[in-house]
Amino acid sequence: MKTVLFGLLACTTALAASTREGNTPAPARPAYLQATYLPLASQPSVKELTAMGRTLFFDASLSASGKQSCASCHSPAHAFGPPNNLDVQLGGKHLRTQGTRATPSLRYLQTSPPFSEHYHDDDGDDSIDAGPTGGRTWDGRADSTHDQARMPLLSAHEMGNATPAAVVKKLQKAPYAAQFRQLFGAAIFEQPEQAFSAALMALEVFQENPEDFYPYTSKYDAFLRGQTTLSAQESRGLALFNAADKGNCASCHISAITPNGGFPQFTDYGLIAIGVPRNRRLAVNRHAAYADKGLCGPDRTDLRDHPEYCGRFKTPTLRNVALRQTFFHNGVFHSLQQVMEFYVQRDTHPEKWYPRQRDGSIRKFDDLPASMQGNVNLEAPFDRQPGDQPALSAAEIRDVIVFMNTLTDGYVRPTLKSPAAQP
Ligand code: HEC
Ligand code: HEC
Repeated sequence: MKTVLFGLLACTTALAASTREGNTPAPARPAYLQATYLPLASQPSVKELTAMGRTLFFDASLSASGKQSCASCHSPAHAFGPPNNLDVQLGGKHLRTQGTRATPSLRYLQTSPPFSEHYHDDDGDDSIDAGPTGGRTWDGRADSTHDQARMPLLSAHEMGNATPAAVVKKLQKAPYAAQFRQLFGAAIFEQPEQAFSAALMALEVFQENPEDFYPYTSKYDAFLRGQTTLSAQESRGLALFNAADKGNCASCHISAITPNGGFPQFTDYGLIAIGVPRNRRLAVNRHAAYADKGLCGPDRTDLRDHPEYCGRFKTPTLRNVALRQTFFHNGVFHSLQQVMEFYVQRDTHPEKWYPRQRDGSIRKFDDLPASMQGNVNLEAPFDRQPGDQPALSAAEIRDVIVFMNTLTDGYVRPTLKSPAAQP
């Protein structure tokens, strides 16, 4: 039998809808475990798969270097984002090969729709085509965490295994090999492609565990539940974040409870070009002819003949963004202050962000070929010209940053004993 076993995995995201409480019901048995296309001797439970997935996620022996696990780049202490301030992480056999993109957080991906070129929101007006939306990775090229996990295990600049069989050999030698057989069948290692798929499935099920991946425990969640209040500065920041003529951030990074009652994910999953400056520190960018154009390639290959998509990258969630030390798809910035200044001064002070050309003019949007620069978004806060006032003042930028700090999970409410000490 062919391994068409795990084709339907994206459906499990349906069980991850957030409720008004921010709780998520215990996952029902995923469809892919019931179906006959999973010819396993045994049928592991979600709990068993989660435990196995957690073990795999933290197992550095699954990499060619023997030193890198998923958690090395996706650190649990950083909302499963990068643990350091490197632009991009190092990987491969000797942990010296530079990646090409910043590591995203793995939290709050559960409601991300599969990639679609013409997206119509269930909640909104059917006639509105929101354009390219959804999918996994910065360019939406993987449709599920299952498809996704293949990539780092086999990528030369990440965990660096040459083939799925190489991964399976490592599984066979792992201290949990007996448990793996018990879960997936005594003969599982005799069918390497199936054993590989079983490992990917365990990783996927682990990444759907609510306590780890979508806990909704930020101060902002407590505020939405009416359990706490925002400080004056946090409230000002939220208002500026939302206001269409100020930050206008919420037009892409959604901040309100959805019409279905779901807590906001701080992304609309849209793939958008915002003209992030070329990161000249990246090794790939030493080649003038190379440009990471996101949706239209080179990593993604199915939309190469769509120049109108070049420069588009997925809008990331801003939940836990304050735990990051590296921002944007190419890791070009290292503080929220820089990111904010870029947003409000990209068009008023382009000379701060882009290089000057020989004729003295500024080469705006320098990571995109000149013919594709029309793809870049020009709505607020970008709707300005040199000489205009930036959309936010220095004090307003501080307010928005303070607000973004309320999006970090693990908020502990102050005790009610001393009301004076409350924020
Ligand atoms: C060397 C660092 C590194 C390692 C190790 C690594 N990742 Fe990643 N991960 C990344 C980067 C970089 C991206 C973005 C890739 C892109 O956009 O092309 C990413 C993207 C992802 C995404 C998509 C997130 C999104 O926003 O859509 C998932 C899911 C993921 N990784 C899971 C894993 C799992 C599971 C493992 C272990 C099997 C793993 N990663 C190992 C660096 C790493
Ligand atoms: C037109 C849609 C849009 C608007 C408006 C917008 N963003 Fe973004 N945001 C994006 C996209 C797309 C990215 C990723 C771009 C990239 O890496 O190429 C992003 C990335 C970010 C990041 C980096 C997160 C990370 O994980 O690297 C931060 C922080 C951020 N935005 C904050 C804001 C704030 C604050 C505002 C309002 C001042 C705002 N955004 C307005 C679409 C938008």
